[in-house]
Amino acid sequence: MVFLNGEFIPKDQASISVMDRGFLFGDGVYEVIPVYNNQIFRLDEHLERLQNSLDSTHITNPYKKDQWQKILLELLKHSAEKNQSLYLQVTRGVDSIRKHSFDELTATVFIESNPLIPRTKTELEKGYCAITQPDFRWERCDIKATSLLANIMYSQQAKQHQAEEVILHRDDQITEGATSNVFIIKDNTLFTHPTGKHILSGITRDLVLESANACSIQVNQTAFSITDLMAADEVWISSSTREIMPITKIDNQLINKGQIGEHWSQVYDHYQQLKYA
Ligand code: PDD
Repeated sequence: MVFLNGEFIPKDQASISVMDRGFLFGDGVYEVIPVYNNQIFRLDEHLERLQNSLDSTHITNPYKKDQWQKILLELLKHSAEKNQSLYLQVTRGVDSIRKHSFDELTATVFIESNPLIPRTKTELEKGYCAITQPDFRWERCDIKATSLLANIMYSQQAKQHQAEEVILHRDDQITEGATSNVFIIKDNTLFTHPTGKHILSGITRDLVLESANACSIQVNQTAFSITDLMAADEVWISSSTREIMPITKIDNQLINKGQIGEHWSQVYDHYQQLKYA
């Protein structure tokens, strides 16, 4: 079952107009929200970020917070899975003709849920590969927009290189991954790019910082360079579906001789506690 514009219907019966601006322009925003043990994890934070994305794009939020919550909980009931990943998208709506500018339309709301099976700690401990690329995205990466052409191109490049992620840099500064935030540990301090228009403010990023604080790891939200990345003691990426993942090889060079770091292990364990708290 999926949710489309006020109705719960089977996925193969869900359809939208060819004049939907989400289809024509990628004119919409979205959220990916994890569900653990039937509990929606950090719903308030996700709905707040959704509101920010809607405000930035001048799309009217079709629902109030409690209405969103009701719809999401109702959708979850249609699956027996305890751990799920909710995908919700709001597009500007259906237009009469294709034109770039817009008038007030009725937003299209689509929500689906899929089983969420995060990798186990033992799997993660093997470490993952990444590649680096110049960040050629636009100046509003803080908006969680459905127009993801650049991110798709990067992710396909990662796939072709059998890498987990593409780590992006603007000039020499690491911004984030194509679908994740990026962190390094150097001399027991955690570094990550500050929030702003060059990165998506990840909900998992906040949880990583919260966990690092709880583990008494110093946190420094300042940008770091490609040289810092390659010379880091540890490199991690984070997202709602991948949680916190250690990267041990970048552009075919081993990070910290390919060893998983102890800080990752501590922060990962703390994050697991938060999930079921
Ligand atoms: N993406 N940066 C980018 C560009 C992302 O696409 C994502 C997540 C993140 C991490 O955000 P969060 O911790 O809130 O998931 C950072 C999701 C998972 C996606 O597009 O499917």
